[in-house]
Amino acid sequence: MTSYDVTRRELLAGTAVTGLALAGVNLMPDFAAAAAQDEVPAPAPLDLVLRVNGTEQRLSLDPRTTLLDALREHLHLTGSKKGCGLGQCGACTVLMDGKRVKSCLSLAALVERREITTIEGLAQGEELHPLQAAFIERDGFQCGYCTSGQIMAGIACINEGHAGSPEEIREWMSGNICRCGAYEGIVAAIQDAARVTGAVQGG
Ligand code: FES
Ligand code: FES
Repeated sequence: MTSYDVTRRELLAGTAVTGLALAGVNLMPDFAAAAAQDEVPAPAPLDLVLRVNGTEQRLSLDPRTTLLDALREHLHLTGSKKGCGLGQCGACTVLMDGKRVKSCLSLAALVERREITTIEGLAQGEELHPLQAAFIERDGFQCGYCTSGQIMAGIACINEGHAGSPEEIREWMSGNICRCGAYEGIVAAIQDAARVTGAVQGG
């Protein structure tokens, strides 16, 4: 038997299934039954306390809830954005105990009582955080979707001492993607904020 035969055989088998479906034969009940057998009941909600922007928040969550969903869906802090949901774009970046984390990859249940800072926790009343002001000054955004993540990561970048040059900033901000390509303004804003404040503190 040649590989060509196998390919033909597979093709014909596939065609037969398609033909049955086209003839109105319902193939789904078997799939549905199999799926039902595999269905796992949802786990019981978990009571937990998140410390967000200096305030304790009591929540009852599915233990599988990510920190990002807890912030956006349960605490209505929608400044942190969901881009990829896979840890690849940085739109969901927040600070945890002053360090940057991608909140789509963190389970809320595992960060209980850690100090979480989101973009909503940066300004002091009417006064913007120095890096927020620098983003406006330097046009560090276009659509703005990535901006909260860029700013949170930028604060961490400065505090880590990785804002010494445009090249260094680009390298240490490489986990934050901007689809609008506003990188020039982002780098300039981080440089400005680092120069002005020495070390910019989050929260
Ligand atoms: Fe978290 Fe993209 S949404 S890294
Ligand atoms: Fe649009 Fe960055 S400003 S994705």
